[in-house]
Amino acid sequence: MSTTTESPALHIQPDAAALAHAAAELLLERANAAIADHGHVSIALTGGSTPRVLYARLADPELRGRTDWARWRVFFGDERAVGPEHADSNYRMAREALLAHVPIPATQVHRLAGEAALYPGTLEDYTAALARDVAPNPALRGGFPGFDLLLLGMGADGHVASLFPGSPALEETTAWVVVNPIAQMGTRRLTLTLPVLNAAREVWLIVTGANKAERVQQAFAAGEDDQTLPVMRVRPRAGKLVWWLDAEAARLLPKRHTHPQS
Ligand code: 6PG
Repeated sequence: MSTTTESPALHIQPDAAALAHAAAELLLERANAAIADHGHVSIALTGGSTPRVLYARLADPELRGRTDWARWRVFFGDERAVGPEHADSNYRMAREALLAHVPIPATQVHRLAGEAALYPGTLEDYTAALARDVAPNPALRGGFPGFDLLLLGMGADGHVASLFPGSPALEETTAWVVVNPIAQMGTRRLTLTLPVLNAAREVWLIVTGANKAERVQQAFAAGEDDQTLPVMRVRPRAGKLVWWLDAEAARLLPKRHTHPQS
C-alpha cells in the first residue's frame, strides 16, 4: 500500500509494550519538532488497547519531562456515543492514561462529545475548535484541518477511527466530523472523516495482535485504487503514513516489508 507522497514507514516491535515504548519516544520527537517549527503540536488521539499503553508511556515520569505540554493541542479522532465518564469513552481512557498526568491546558484538550451522537447539533463546537486550533495542511487545498500527528488504531475488520466497513461516513467528502451509524454494531459513533485523516502531516497506524495480521497483509498488498477496507483509504495527500506493528500483527507480511535490507 502506498501514499501519494511517499511509501509508508514501517516499525515492527516484538510486542505491544515494546511498541508503546518505541512509539512514545518518536512521538515526543515529532511533537517537539512541530513545536519548534510552528509553536505548537496538534494531535488527534485514538481509542484502542495499544494506544492506551502508548499514552501511559508518555505520562511516565521518565518521559513526560521531555516536552512542553503547554504547546499541545489535543483532539480525538472518534468517540463512542457515550459521555466522558462511561467505561467505553475514548476520552476517559486518554484522560486516565495521559491527560490527567500532564499539564496540558484544559482549553487545549478538545473532547469529542460522544453524547452528541444522539444530538448531532453539537458537532459545530468541535468543528469550530478544529478550525481554530488545527491549521490546514499548507501543501493542500480544501482547507481541511491538517493535524501534525494523527493516531489511528485498526480493528480486525479493517476499520479506523469509527469508519467501519460499509458505514456512510466513509463517503463523506466535506464535513470534518460526523455522526456515523454502525449497522454491524447497532449503534452510532462520532468520527473524523477521511478528508481530515488524509490532510494530516503524519498519520500513525498502531496495530497489534494476531487477529489483525490478515488485514495488515491485505492492506499492504492493496493497490492504489483498492478501497475494500477503510484502512486502505488512509492515504495522507501531503503527509507521511507510519505503521507501528507488533510481531503478531506483522507475521503475514512478505519479507520485503519486514526485512527490507535482506
Ligand atoms: C475506538 C478506536 C478504534 C480502535 C480500533 C482498534 O474507538 O475503539 O478509535 O478505531 O482504534 O478498534 O482497537 P484495538 O487497538 O483495541 O484493537
